[in-house]
Amino acid sequence: MKLKNQALIVTGGASGIGARSAVALAAEGANLIVADYNIDGATQVASELTQKGVKAFPFKVDVSKSAEVEAMVDFAVEKLGTLNGMFNNAGIGLVKPFLEMDPGSYLKVIEVNQHSVYYGMHYAAKKMVALGAKGTFVNTASIYGTTAALGSFNYNAAKAAVIMMTRSAALELAPHDIRVVAVAPGFINTPILGSDAGMKEMLGRQHLHGKLIEPEKVASVVAFLFTDSASAINGSTIPVEDGYQVFKNS
Ligand SMILES: NC(=O)c1ccc[n+]([C@@H]2O[C@H](COP(=O)([O-])OP(=O)(O)OC[C@H]3O[C@@H](n4cnc5c(N)ncnc54)[C@H](O)[C@@H]3O)[C@@H](O)[C@H]2O)c1
Repeated sequence: MKLKNQALIVTGGASGIGARSAVALAAEGANLIVADYNIDGATQVASELTQKGVKAFPFKVDVSKSAEVEAMVDFAVEKLGTLNGMFNNAGIGLVKPFLEMDPGSYLKVIEVNQHSVYYGMHYAAKKMVALGAKGTFVNTASIYGTTAALGSFNYNAAKAAVIMMTRSAALELAPHDIRVVAVAPGFINTPILGSDAGMKEMLGRQHLHGKLIEPEKVASVVAFLFTDSASAINGSTIPVEDGYQVFKNS
């Protein structure tokens, strides 16, 4: 077990990539806060983890609210005794053509997908430095942080910012022995993609294997990035996209 007694927070831990990553991190021995605004889902995941023999506590948070993120960090230290990092993963999609991208729709996605990552790293890093605890942040970017998609001006902007915030925070936090990395998933089989089977099939065809990627495949990379085996990966965004960027499906 490579993460024994590490104290970590997973946001968006109730579902999809976050839930599967919580399981993968627990399998390596990490103690976890499973944070989400879906508290029922977070509670269910946390109880699954407890049965595997690690400490796990659910926490209800809206990651777009700085005070709630700060309270989540305090809760983690209170329950787990220290803090060694966070998976800043909670996110939403809100697809609209650019000409209909009103400020509310734009800001909603920026606040949930981008500002949350700043709040998470800021409050957690301050706490970790005060405690003298080293560790790792993993942030969830996207292939849409580097590739424009129709209807995704807000999401493209937020995920591009996550990639750059990952680099910038890695630079600032290296002297404190805190590493910062990101994953950029392709199209992952989670509820965020909605229920349109035709659309999901079309997205799956953008991968070399011609199908959606299961969230466990992102989770295993996330768990690896938290371990010392990944200690030379810093400031980078790791694609988990089954070749999305290497070809065009015509
Ligand atoms: N599924 C994909 O194809 C894909 C691709 C690239 C990136 N991503 C990113 O992966 C991350 C996880 O998404 P997923 O695919 O697992 O989707 P998901 O919908 O299964 O999970 C997202 C979780 O985030 C939570 N959440 C949303 N807004 C929140 C908020 N304000 N505060 C707290 N929790 C909140 C939801 O309740 C949910 O549990 C997101 O950042 C998403 O943008 C997903």
